[in-house]
Amino acid sequence: MKKITDMAHELLSSYVHKTAICADFTMGNGYDTRFFAERATAGTVYAFDIQEEALTQTKKLLNDTANVRLILDNHLSMDRYIQDKLDAAIFNFGYLPNGSTTITTDAEISLSAVKKAFRLCKKHALLILVCYPGHAQGAKEAAMITKWCESLDAYTARIMKITMMNKPHAPFLFAVEKLSDL
Ligand SMILES: C[S@@+](CC[C@H](N)C(=O)[O-])C[C@H]1O[C@@H](n2cnc3c(N)ncnc32)[C@H](O)[C@@H]1O
Repeated sequence: MKKITDMAHELLSSYVHKTAICADFTMGNGYDTRFFAERATAGTVYAFDIQEEALTQTKKLLNDTANVRLILDNHLSMDRYIQDKLDAAIFNFGYLPNGSTTITTDAEISLSAVKKAFRLCKKHALLILVCYPGHAQGAKEAAMITKWCESLDAYTARIMKITMMNKPHAPFLFAVEKLSDL
């Protein structure tokens, strides 16, 4: 079975065309940014992180940065940087792999940022949310994101959840396809 992060890429692949506008709201080591950058070669990829280390790691992964904007800022400030509507975006919550486990996404900020990102999405864009309920802050965040997903009506979004049925603390993802123009 594929890892949850590979499943995220598989789902995103049909939304990320050559001129797509994409956002990686939690850049980390840059694997999601690279995924977007290699496909949206004539588009734009916005990538955010609050840690300088994430930008350093991501730069090492990218061969060509012409279509990429690496932004050292909170993803809650996304509307200062993104003027276009998005075709595809991802939040891969939690902390920087191999980095400090004390710098993790914050449940309240994550929920506000997800709502903002959803507003920035085009009709038929895909927003992926990867949750990590295995630590305390992650469990709180996963519960809040789950509640938000459940609150969207079926005319606003089509939402799929991929989860390990027999591993309750394993990461899971929501794939949120926007159905409205708003
Ligand atoms: C699980 S990692 C992301 C993994 C990454 N997408 C990859 O492919 O390696 C989560 C990242 O979110 C970042 N982060 C936490 N809070 C943030 C915020 N408010 N705005 C932007 N990035 C944030 C952390 O610094 C960390 O690097």
